[in-house]
Amino acid sequence: MKYIKSKKWQINENDVTPENLFNKRRSFIKLGAASIVSSSALVELFAKENIPVKNLDYKKDKNLNNLKLNTYEQITSHNNFYEFTTSQGKVKDMAHTLNTDNWKIKVDGLVKKPMTIDLDDIMKKFALEERIYRFRCVEGWSMVVPWIGFELSKLIKYLQPLSSAKYIRFETLYDEKMFPDQARGAFSTISYPYVEGLRMDEAMNELTLMAVGLYGSKMPKQNGAPIRLIVPWKYGFKSIKSISKISFVEKQPLNTWQKENSNEYGFYANVNPNVDHPRWSQARERLLGNFFKQRTLMFNGYEKQVAHLYKGMDLTKDF
Ligand code: MTE
Repeated sequence: MKYIKSKKWQINENDVTPENLFNKRRSFIKLGAASIVSSSALVELFAKENIPVKNLDYKKDKNLNNLKLNTYEQITSHNNFYEFTTSQGKVKDMAHTLNTDNWKIKVDGLVKKPMTIDLDDIMKKFALEERIYRFRCVEGWSMVVPWIGFELSKLIKYLQPLSSAKYIRFETLYDEKMFPDQARGAFSTISYPYVEGLRMDEAMNELTLMAVGLYGSKMPKQNGAPIRLIVPWKYGFKSIKSISKISFVEKQPLNTWQKENSNEYGFYANVNPNVDHPRWSQARERLLGNFFKQRTLMFNGYEKQVAHLYKGMDLTKDF
């Protein structure tokens, strides 16, 4: 059995894990998991078993709205990540093929200096903070997640887009070896790479987050490791995972779901209980773990912070 030198992130597991999970961890160690020395391998292993490893330094969210968090288990075992599968419960068992080592993001388009940035460098530049947000999927389920990340506005200021840049466009990594549905070519469920976009003022809003973790732990692969977008007032499909390219552009990008079915999905995708999906009502949602549905809030409860962005727009047309 190898000896693991204690690392800074290896805090007392009782601090972060409820007793049953702590015991589960002990059984892992018996199984030989102690020979795993890299934190990313541990995060991966534990995320698969729904155990968070607290390995990020961040400023805690005061949770002024008193939102009740979904559990780590709920958040990491019910996922939409089509690159793996459309079976929401199976993503966590398949996501191990995503390799996030030495992650790079290509930056191009209307920007002062096109470049490739290294995720490790970005992590050193921007202090991390926790953001406890409601997260509402267009399918009608929702959850409350303690994301960890930094404001997208900080990254944008660092990248220095030109004034002619009106939108920001994101792409998920394209790699057929890592993502089985991409390897299916013409038989893929949707076309890849997954693309999303925001208007520049939406991207600069203080709520818009580049998330690198949740529950104090690096982002689990099934939730879009190593870095994803979180736009809490929009349906979850806007929150693109595993970002490998950012482009600053003049014209509104064609996002994946609008491309797949423009009658059902638009560019804005603001959470709106008054505009139904053509095939179901959006007035209510089922919070993961609850039996009864609850009312969906306008802009997912973030009206005060974002309603001004859409003044004068017809939200039934720009859905
Ligand atoms: N990003 C990529 N690359 N691929 C996807 O399939 N699904 C989207 C979004 N981002 C998706 C994606 C949808 S539909 C939702 S609801 C959220 O991710 C789900 O995020 P979660 O699995 O962390 O809950």
